[in-house]
Amino acid sequence: MTTSTKSNVQLVDHPLATQALTRLRDFNTPPHEFRKHALSLSRFLVYEAMRDLTTREAGVETPLGAAKGIVLSDYVVIAPILRAGLIISEAAQEIMPATARVYHVGLRRDEATLQAISYYAKLPEKLPAECKVYVLDPMLATGGSAVAAIQLFADLKVGTINLVSFLAAPEGIKHVHDKFPRVKITVGAIDECLNEHGYIVPGLGDAGDRIFGT
Ligand code: PRP
Ligand code: URA
Repeated sequence: MTTSTKSNVQLVDHPLATQALTRLRDFNTPPHEFRKHALSLSRFLVYEAMRDLTTREAGVETPLGAAKGIVLSDYVVIAPILRAGLIISEAAQEIMPATARVYHVGLRRDEATLQAISYYAKLPEKLPAECKVYVLDPMLATGGSAVAAIQLFADLKVGTINLVSFLAAPEGIKHVHDKFPRVKITVGAIDECLNEHGYIVPGLGDAGDRIFGT
């Protein structure tokens, strides 16, 4: 997989990932196709975001003898931001062992103020200090939603927090890293800017509406 990591931003530009993103950008891609390509891109992003998972050695018996192997040893938390983050969560749960915990964070952006408004967050009182949290949201626009979600986990003093997004605006990356410089952001592309309505340009439009056909 092709990735480059600069200033805590991991850009996943494997041709298959970028092709999926291109289909997502296309105005003519209908919701059922959009979901298919969104799942495909999500898998690439999640694989790369989780490249640094910790493992421990675990031998295994093949039909021909003993082989070295590993098992994952991290306590992993997957945190999709509703609604659009659900698609990345679907891919992450498919890839991750059943031991990954999923905590949903409900945030919606006020269309006039662009502020993130919380409507659901049911997190545990405590998480292990060494746990790895993956906040999932396809769109990092102003960064308000991502910062609000990351803050919930930062307050729990978890080990590491990562953000996984299809697309980011430079403004959103700056917002997240101004508040949380240690958060690694894994993205499929970094676009030019935000428009006057806070949408990523050229972007792909409204991710939630396109995933759910609303
Ligand atoms: C979209 C998107 C992000 C947020 C990004 O969600 O999925 O959560 O906007 O914008 P920001 O970086 O400026 O906060 P939206 O609020 O439209 O909700 P939805 O997923 O339910 O459609
Ligand atoms: N939310 C979206 O779904 N798309 C954008 O471009 C910005 C916020």
